Amino acid sequence: MTALPPPREPGRYSVTIVCLGNICRSPMADVVLSAKLEEAGLADRVEVTSSGTGGFHVGDPIDQRAAATLTAAGYDPSQHLVRKFEPARRSTYDLVLAMDSDNLADIGGADDRVRLFRDFDPVDPGADVPDPYYGGPAGFEEVLSMVERTTAAIVAALQGEFSLR
Ligand code: 4NP
Repeated sequence: MTALPPPREPGRYSVTIVCLGNICRSPMADVVLSAKLEEAGLADRVEVTSSGTGGFHVGDPIDQRAAATLTAAGYDPSQHLVRKFEPARRSTYDLVLAMDSDNLADIGGADDRVRLFRDFDPVDPGADVPDPYYGGPAGFEEVLSMVERTTAAIVAALQGEFSLR
């Protein structure tokens, strides 16, 4: 697994997650990562946001199918509102995670703090999170499973960073 970039300011960390629409994949990752950070006692130190490179759905809630998948798994997706990625903010985060390689290219490509989300996937590192938007419910389940194991690895890395293990 790839290493977590160090915080720019000791004791705090900001993560933003980017997909195309900010209606399916990045909100699912945002909701699950936020819940796991809360459980780990890191919610007040780590800020999580998400956005999309396309502006089609700005201001909308999360996709209903993504919401149903999250709710069935015990998460609360009700607070999400779609935001568009702001290129000027790219360099203001500790870590920017793109859900697929198109999203990564659209935000200007990888660097030390700008990575693929699944660079942190312990099972298949470096792969894309497939876009479930035009598919059926199984696609959302698949995304949730990738998101759960990858966010668990990210939280473990953050716990290491903050020495809470
Ligand atoms: P997301 O999925 O990038 O996971 O939010 C999509 C949502 C909307 C569209 C494409 C992908 N769209 O074309 O509207």
